[in-house]
Amino acid sequence: MSTITIEAEDISKSYGPANNRIRVLKDLSLSVHPGELTLCVGPSGSGKSTLVSALSGLLNPDTGRVKLLGEDLWAMNENERNDFRLRHCGFVFQGFNLFGALTALENVLLPLSFMGIPAIEARERAQVALAEVGLAARSHLLPAELSGGEKQRTAIARAIAKNPSLIFADEPTSALDKENGQRVVDILHRFARTRGATILGVTHDPRLLSHADRVIHLEDGLILRDTRNTETAFSHP
Ligand SMILES: Nc1ncnc2c1ncn2[C@@H]1O[C@H](COP(=O)(O)OP(=O)(O)OP(=O)(O)O)[C@@H](O)[C@H]1O
Ligand SMILES: [Mg+2]
Repeated sequence: MSTITIEAEDISKSYGPANNRIRVLKDLSLSVHPGELTLCVGPSGSGKSTLVSALSGLLNPDTGRVKLLGEDLWAMNENERNDFRLRHCGFVFQGFNLFGALTALENVLLPLSFMGIPAIEARERAQVALAEVGLAARSHLLPAELSGGEKQRTAIARAIAKNPSLIFADEPTSALDKENGQRVVDILHRFARTRGATILGVTHDPRLLSHADRVIHLEDGLILRDTRNTETAFSHP
């Protein structure tokens, strides 16, 4: 595959005081492609969240370069980076990160209004996204009135309503049971396939790996294995 939408070149990151530095990422290089769901796995502490943070603009690596859609992420100033992330990136986290005082629909609308999308179009896009994740009938509810799986699907609707080229998902399924976890991964996978988006996720759950196109095995800040599934399992059509 020739197109590369996420490219890390020799990135490293260390934590701690000078006399006790811990190298969490060790000159790691990685290219991620569009139209695919790529999942990172590895032991706790292996650097998965640090890697996704460095690739998504949340954490500046000590060395190396990150290119998103051909643009050097860490060469941008903070405003440029925030603007780039708003326009091109969707985020899904373990803890859902929904606003409790807003309904599911309002949560999905929020980033669209930040993007300056006119209200009528934003509403249309939010409703389509909520329908895509199976929540059309529940969009008027507050997060507290939704199940864990429904909250995460709302968070995915919020990400996909932006129609981003890139989606980053750190442990999007770890607060969910097996069935809901598979459903969430399959929705992300479908979005990658149908819209040509690049989706980079992290998971602890080995049962989800067969639902990805590609699996990156991290250990101790390095890529140990990089495998591709020839036939990806879908639990939902
Ligand atoms: N802000 C920080 N300050 C100091 N050390 C940190 C910081 N963030 C992460 N670390 C350390 O870096 C290492 C990698 O952390 P990271 O969160 O990337 O791991 P992970 O693979 O995502 O783990 P998990 O599966 O538990 O989420 C860990 O040893 C962690 O303690
Ligand atoms: Mg983590």
